[in-house]
Amino acid sequence: MLKDLKVSHRREPIGLDETPRFSWKIDSSANDVWQKGYRIQVSAKGKIVWDSGLQEKDTQLYVPYEGEPLLPFTRYLVQVTAWDSYGQMHQARTSFETGVLGRENWIGTWITHEFPKEERRCPVFVRTVPVPGRVKAARLYATAAGVYEARINGERAGDALLAPGWTSYHHRLQYQTIDITDLLREGDNELAITLGCGWYRGYLGFDDRPDRYGDRTALLAMVRIELEGGQVLTLGTDTDWLVREGEILSSELYYGEVRDLTAEKRALGHAVPFAEKDRLGELVAQESEPVRVTRRFPVAKRIVTPKGELVFDFSQNMAGIVEVTLPPLTGEKLVISHAETLDRDGNFYMENLRTAVSNDTYIYGPSDVGRAVMPSFIFHGFRYIRVEGAGMDVDPAAFTACAIHSDMERTSSLTVSNPLVQRLLMNVEWGQRSNFVDLPTDCPQRNERLGWTGDAQVFCRAAAIQFDTALFFAKWLRDVAAETNSEHGVPHVVPNILGDRDGAAAWSDAAVIIPWNQYMAYGDLDLLREQYPMMRTWVEYIRSKASPNGLWQSGFQYGDWLALDIEAGSGDRTGGTDRYLVASAFYAHSAGILQDAAHALGYEEDEREYGALREEIVRAIGEEYVTATGRLVSETQTACVLMLHFDLVRGEAKERVLQTLISNLARHRNHLTTGFVGTPYLCHCLSENGRHDLSAEVFLKEDFPGWLYAVKKGATTVWERWDSVKPDGSFDASGMNSLNHYAYGAIADWLYGKVAGIAPVLPGYRRFVVRPRLTPGLEEVDARVETVYGTIECHTVCRDGRITVDLVIPPGTRADVALPEREGERELGSGHYHYEYETKTSLRRARFTTESTLGELVAEEAGRRCFEELSPGMLDTPMIQYAYGMTVAELIAMAPEGEPLYLAVIDALNASWGSRRDGTHGKIDWQNCLPESQDNLTNK
Ligand code: BGC
Repeated sequence: MLKDLKVSHRREPIGLDETPRFSWKIDSSANDVWQKGYRIQVSAKGKIVWDSGLQEKDTQLYVPYEGEPLLPFTRYLVQVTAWDSYGQMHQARTSFETGVLGRENWIGTWITHEFPKEERRCPVFVRTVPVPGRVKAARLYATAAGVYEARINGERAGDALLAPGWTSYHHRLQYQTIDITDLLREGDNELAITLGCGWYRGYLGFDDRPDRYGDRTALLAMVRIELEGGQVLTLGTDTDWLVREGEILSSELYYGEVRDLTAEKRALGHAVPFAEKDRLGELVAQESEPVRVTRRFPVAKRIVTPKGELVFDFSQNMAGIVEVTLPPLTGEKLVISHAETLDRDGNFYMENLRTAVSNDTYIYGPSDVGRAVMPSFIFHGFRYIRVEGAGMDVDPAAFTACAIHSDMERTSSLTVSNPLVQRLLMNVEWGQRSNFVDLPTDCPQRNERLGWTGDAQVFCRAAAIQFDTALFFAKWLRDVAAETNSEHGVPHVVPNILGDRDGAAAWSDAAVIIPWNQYMAYGDLDLLREQYPMMRTWVEYIRSKASPNGLWQSGFQYGDWLALDIEAGSGDRTGGTDRYLVASAFYAHSAGILQDAAHALGYEEDEREYGALREEIVRAIGEEYVTATGRLVSETQTACVLMLHFDLVRGEAKERVLQTLISNLARHRNHLTTGFVGTPYLCHCLSENGRHDLSAEVFLKEDFPGWLYAVKKGATTVWERWDSVKPDGSFDASGMNSLNHYAYGAIADWLYGKVAGIAPVLPGYRRFVVRPRLTPGLEEVDARVETVYGTIECHTVCRDGRITVDLVIPPGTRADVALPEREGERELGSGHYHYEYETKTSLRRARFTTESTLGELVAEEAGRRCFEELSPGMLDTPMIQYAYGMTVAELIAMAPEGEPLYLAVIDALNASWGSRRDGTHGKIDWQNCLPESQDNLTNK
């Protein structure tokens, strides 16, 4: 069988304006299957327009259409036949429909309204669409300066939200193709398109400025109807369209939507031509998956806060909107406020939203009660809502939280025998769901939500494992390219609303790192070719800024953003690592990637050029930052990690840097201190340098700072800071504290790549490694990664003296497999494999050891009870608080007579958790290990 036959990364697309490229997977469980040849046939209106003929090639990806010129608005049928190495024939069919294919095919002109400039009410553009017969197929092609929602006879057309999305509007603007066949009826139909301010005209950026792209919203649309008899009718926007007031009084991404269902909707006459139309960039067909509602959450809990407010908890932090079945009002209006969290007293907490007030308001009369409504042009970052205006007894069932994001396909799953890690994985997934809302944003809740390049760079590998991000990043990278230039390099946010700022390391390097990562994940060489000039411009930009010693040592840098290794109380957010070391390390890294990209594209001269440049930078880094005996100038965790992971130190110095990293970690009781730059690589680096045990220990820490600390605090998304919520339940109050930032979720890449052990060697996983590593604390790891060739699976169990590994390798690929505790590597072709053998290793980990802090023991109810029983009054001594941060080992070293007491408490605690200090075990009830609020959640 052939499966997942796609056209330019899409399934049965309509509105395609690019040359179609076909990809497919062979579905077979036989061993060593690969493709011997294929044939592609494309037809339209019963006529073959392209027959590739039999191609004796193993290519399964991105085969371009090479037939007769494609016509606009036309449906093409595609049949792919492939033969495999067993001589088996496989076949699949799909279709695609072309879009407008060029401005000359648009009927219609840009129109706008004559609302006064200061008016924020959303205009509605209306046109009667006469339909003189039975409709065979009908499409609406539309775009806006602003965001739009189309309705036909009152029914919503399509399910895309926030269309046309956010692009670099002055360079590129997307249009959408919407299937409206089922909405039209014979006779007159009303087409009404409402425009919201969106990113184009709305308040945007942390300085809360409106009108970033223009001060007037506008519309371009065209309807095309094919009747049963073959007759085609078209109609486009022009000044015959009428404009009227709508029910949306204002709609701002940060502030929320105000709808008045009772307001008079005055007709305002005809639409007028849009004078600003030439300031808009090229019109392009929708490039990525549209934003849609993807999950719906009922209220999980009704809360009356200590302040007496009525709050509903949806149990998951998300980007989304609330649908409400309008309840009878007790006041004048219904106000729904959104927040990510309650404060430590249990009150609704909105302070971290800064100026993003995030209120949706509905004004309505008794006849509207029971009507289901939701905002059209905004979204919020929230888990909780506060409801005002409908009394304390309003029915929670009237409220549904709808999570929204770019509707990418989920492409992996990972199940591990540790519920905290499982919850972390869900949090990472939700970090992506919440921040892949048409573009990769830093956060979905405060007055920011911008396409920060650094955040996207840090997270892109994890993102491409979790979801199919091929189109999502292809679209955004086109905006990055559009806004990159040799004068300022690559902007810090894209689309760039911050103005001309010189590029910064690790942020602007997104322009090099993300394209390469995407190429490794999906093997799309055409995209890499498209992105190459931007990648090169960025490296050349850095070269133009380099000091005479060949290093990048000037200008503004974010350093190791938000790292913890800086003096307490300092307002500096750039961390303790020398920021120009960071800059130069990324310079070397990007030059190396450019060399690899040039190699992949066959640009030999560039390959040599950037290979030499990388060598030169590495040499200069050695001179500037590494002493003759291998000491680093900046001995932070991040500096060591960059040196090792980017391969910037060699020979004996490498060993010394590794030792420096290990002793730095030891000084922090094996806790990380890294920020945005070091965190994604820290665990990779330890695992790659023979210290997987240590990376597991750092990763599995449950106290601050570490990934599981937030999980234990009840987080349902990944936080911006390691201590966004402090151990005492208070919040970081520096004015920058999001509970839904994906950057540190980059750890998922290590869980898949190093723990489950699946990572690409050749682009698109045509060749990959499977090297599951035994990870203390994780007895069972079950991973599935859906690649462009098919599904890779690796299920590893190390338990009760046995190791079992079950593997699935998809047709068309080869894997280099290294089994735990077995020598050497074996190369395998497709198929299912099972290995089983004995081991002396136990991965059970006592939860509490002498490395636990007193604070950790006391944080457990059972621990506290035990201390009270065995040493009454000890915890009441005022000085004891100071010992909470010390490990038991440290306390015993100071006062050896305490040892029996501590060991007794540790044993009692481990027994209550099902494991003992000496490594023997009872049965672990993982469900009970979850923090209270999460026990009903799974990873599906
Ligand atoms: C954003 C970050 C971003 C940073 C850079 C913050 O406000 O939320 O995630 O990368 O600024 O300065």
